[in-house]
Amino acid sequence: MYPESIIQAFLRKFGETPAIIVRAPGRINLIGEHTDYNEGFVLPAAIDRAVWFAVSPKDDQGLHFQALDLGAAFQTNLKNLEKSPLGWPNYLLGCFSELLRDGHQIGGANVVFSGDIPVGAGLSSSAAVESGMLFALNELYQLSLSRPDLARLAQRSENNFVGMNCGIMDMFASLMGREGCALKLDCRSLQHEYIPLNVQDTAILLCDTGVKHQLVDSAYNTRRQECEEGVRHLQRIYPNVHSLRDVDINMLHSEKNHLREVVFQRCKYVVEENGRVESACKALKEKGLPAIGSLLYASHEGLKNEYQVSCPELDFLVDHTPDSLNFFGARMVGGGFGGCTINLLKKDAVEGFQTYIARKYREKWGRRGDLGGFRKPPRSPRDHTLVQKNPPIQKI
Ligand code: GLA
Repeated sequence: MYPESIIQAFLRKFGETPAIIVRAPGRINLIGEHTDYNEGFVLPAAIDRAVWFAVSPKDDQGLHFQALDLGAAFQTNLKNLEKSPLGWPNYLLGCFSELLRDGHQIGGANVVFSGDIPVGAGLSSSAAVESGMLFALNELYQLSLSRPDLARLAQRSENNFVGMNCGIMDMFASLMGREGCALKLDCRSLQHEYIPLNVQDTAILLCDTGVKHQLVDSAYNTRRQECEEGVRHLQRIYPNVHSLRDVDINMLHSEKNHLREVVFQRCKYVVEENGRVESACKALKEKGLPAIGSLLYASHEGLKNEYQVSCPELDFLVDHTPDSLNFFGARMVGGGFGGCTINLLKKDAVEGFQTYIARKYREKWGRRGDLGGFRKPPRSPRDHTLVQKNPPIQKI
């Protein structure tokens, strides 16, 4: 299907062949959730779901976008870069806006894009859109920006143009992912290390709840503010603290009575999650993927009880993972409030688990008439994604 369908659509819309085709992957995160904007550690990997771009530069300042999956088009020009009430164009407009802000010489562009990363599933479809757009512009306008530079720009686009104060993990994973490896990233220095996944007979399986909470952006930004509140307080006692990265659990406990309870809980989760990333990297190198399973469960407990970004459907999927030697661990992945769980299990056990968990999920949520604050009804069992490969971002 890809990239032919995109090239055909580009031809139909613009009457020319695109100058470049780019494939930008989504990501999973093995462990290290909500640590990136606290200058901590994360362990993501690019996945074999991606957003594809067909792009041509333009002599004038025109911007013409077509979102194939939405059946929608948008046009404006570089002189008129304003936030669009439509939502989706902002992920692209932000890229142009940030490049111009940094003084880069760019012209307009014709863009067609489409992808197979489920939106709102915690697999970073939006970061893939931003990373792919910037990657294409960097090539077309010969900007000579490095991939980490592009990741920083993509993060700024999302912060400034979309209004989501996300960290750098998603873009960095999309732009820097390497096949067969997870990427341990220090989100303060951007130093990184590739750790072979050595999957052998272990499978990484994503189960999609199919739900996304409507308040996700504001709840995310509130979590950030709560962490910052903790840092501001701790700085008065420990002047060397710049972020939660510099805080250990004893320091935090020493100030427990002076912090709001909710702020203490958020900070405790982040400090412990950073420790779990370190432990997971060690276990992954020494013993392989199954050895990080218990850390996944511990991460989920923290995300559910202390950071409070899970939801009943995610908890249900994690709680109903089998207590068996074939199943190693599970947790929610990404920002939370819906989306996917990541599951580590024996390859042989995948089919049995899929049938079992789909039945359980349907029994519990399938007939639910009132979907409350949730946007979409739960999906069918076909929405389990087996991560088979993790190719990097690339020009085709
Ligand atoms: C979202 C954000 C990331 C990160 C995760 C949580 O995916 O975009 O920067 O904070 O949530 O780990």
